Amino acid sequence: MAGGVVLSAKNAAASILRLTSQASKVLPRLGNVASARCLSSSFKASDLQVEVTKHGATKPDVDKLVFGKTFTDHMFCVEWTAGGGWQTPRIQPFQNLSLHPASSSLHYSIELFEGMKAFRGVDNKVRIFRPMLNMERMHRTALRASLPSFDTAELCECIRKLVELDKDWVPHSTKASLYLRPTFISTEQTLGVSRPGRALLFVILSPVGPYFSTGGFSPVALLADPQHVRAFKGGVGDCKLGGNYGPTIYVQNLAIQQGCQQVLWLYGDTEQITEAGTMNLFIYWINEQGEEELATPPLDGIILPGVTRQSLLDLARQWGEFKVSERYITMADLQKGLREKRVKEMFGAGTACVVCPVDRVLYHGQNLHIPTMENDGPKIATRFLQVLTDIQYGRTESEWMHLVD
Ligand SMILES: Cc1ncc(COP(=O)(O)O)c(C=O)c1O
Repeated sequence: MAGGVVLSAKNAAASILRLTSQASKVLPRLGNVASARCLSSSFKASDLQVEVTKHGATKPDVDKLVFGKTFTDHMFCVEWTAGGGWQTPRIQPFQNLSLHPASSSLHYSIELFEGMKAFRGVDNKVRIFRPMLNMERMHRTALRASLPSFDTAELCECIRKLVELDKDWVPHSTKASLYLRPTFISTEQTLGVSRPGRALLFVILSPVGPYFSTGGFSPVALLADPQHVRAFKGGVGDCKLGGNYGPTIYVQNLAIQQGCQQVLWLYGDTEQITEAGTMNLFIYWINEQGEEELATPPLDGIILPGVTRQSLLDLARQWGEFKVSERYITMADLQKGLREKRVKEMFGAGTACVVCPVDRVLYHGQNLHIPTMENDGPKIATRFLQVLTDIQYGRTESEWMHLVD
């Protein structure tokens, strides 16, 4: 069991040297938030205690899976207390949690999560897609939530072992996958709004079917209503905190009532286009300078740094066939581009769908037609989907995939 680390102001400076590389990356951005707590020790995958279930559940029919409703036989859990540090990490049968009703995760949303996937390749090997990017995002979010630091590589290895134990749950299909949900909550038993002295990190796994049930792309329509804001400068929109998501459901329902599927989140007086639902947004067009360009908003604090976003940017830059920009795009830019017939494709990007074409934006009661699906469908979005799924299902070898077994 790892012991807790109590730091005095005096030895804090010396201990800075012991920071993990992950923590040192986030320190400049988080300033005071990453104080002594990010110097605490971590649980270790080599200490894992494993209790295997005696009652494995029947595996579901992949074609009947509904997102996030089915869970595998096991889960990962590790507790932390300020006095005792990280406890022994465990893999145990999937079970309910028992929480004190005053747990501050329930009252003040001191809670965060991740979303990532494991795939069964065409060679029957199970691999996780770029897990360290999720681990680093989770670690950064934890520090922002005043939750304790951990070693991202150790958590990654614990997750690998969990997926290995439940690997029969990874669907035998190149359309489906296993969704991994690391979660980190405060279990501090107080109604005081204060830094938690107790926390629980757990990971559950859920087999998921294809995002587009039809087989091909189903484009979505977006409601762009500047009244509603997902994130704001100085806020936490770039962190995967549960509190960022609950309040969006109301706006999502407004979008559905108006015949759209998702929300196009706008920001500021210039109505910057930021994200679509829980996806990063990309536009592929001829820009005002006449250049072919793939553009997505920059990571300026109001954008969630998506793993898929990063992967699309990495691929497009590797291709080197058109300009790739992380830059602001406003509703006025989009409307002008549409009027001048320069917009070719608009699509969301995220773990759930990889890419999701957008064919309409409802803005101030007016339908803006986006020609993404014209001329035999989206050229760039289709290419991204093909290249990424080839990597994920092991048809193309890639160092982005983390082998499970
Ligand atoms: C707000 C938001 N934007 C973008 C994304 C896409 O991120 P990723 O590609 O890591 O799934 C997500 C999903 O996690 C999200 O919640």
